Amino acid sequence: MHTGLKLLHSSSAYLTLAFLIIAVLYCGYCWLSSKEFSKTNKIIALVALIFSHLQLLLGLILYFVSPMGMSNFSGASMKDSMSRLYILEHPLTMIIALVLITIGYSKSKRKMIPEDKNKMIAVFYLIGLILIASRIPWSVWPA
Ligand code: HEM
Repeated sequence: MHTGLKLLHSSSAYLTLAFLIIAVLYCGYCWLSSKEFSKTNKIIALVALIFSHLQLLLGLILYFVSPMGMSNFSGASMKDSMSRLYILEHPLTMIIALVLITIGYSKSKRKMIPEDKNKMIAVFYLIGLILIASRIPWSVWPA
């Protein structure tokens, strides 16, 4: 269960990052060059949102089955930077990033002007992406 889930969480992270990067670049370009918020923009933003949420869900389940997650929680493990990353920093930062990405998507939906729609996606997804990248265990991933 743990090995399979870890592999899935690790593999889907590539797709999550890729779709977020595509959404930031595409909507960012459309925002800065005052282009339409077309069906393509909408689909890209939605796919990035769905993959991010899926990644979060896999992470939440993994947290309770991984020896690096909840079961490793102790005063001693909090003093170890790698353990602290998995127990606290990684999950917490990812949840904050996902909240921001979700806010960006729903704000974009409510805006009327195409430029504002693209801006909400580009700005909020970029902040989310930076947060995610800041707490990925790069020393062990990609394996
Ligand atoms: C966008 C959100 C997330 C991304 C991109 C992400 C990415 C990753 C990556 C790349 C790894 C390393 C996998 C490996 O060693 O092969 C990892 C491990 C892990 N993640 Fe996440 N993660 C996310 C969200 C979460 C959340 C919300 C939680 C928990 C609530 C979580 C819990 C874990 C745990 C416990 C591990 C260690 C697994 C193990 O070695 O047994 N992740 N994550």
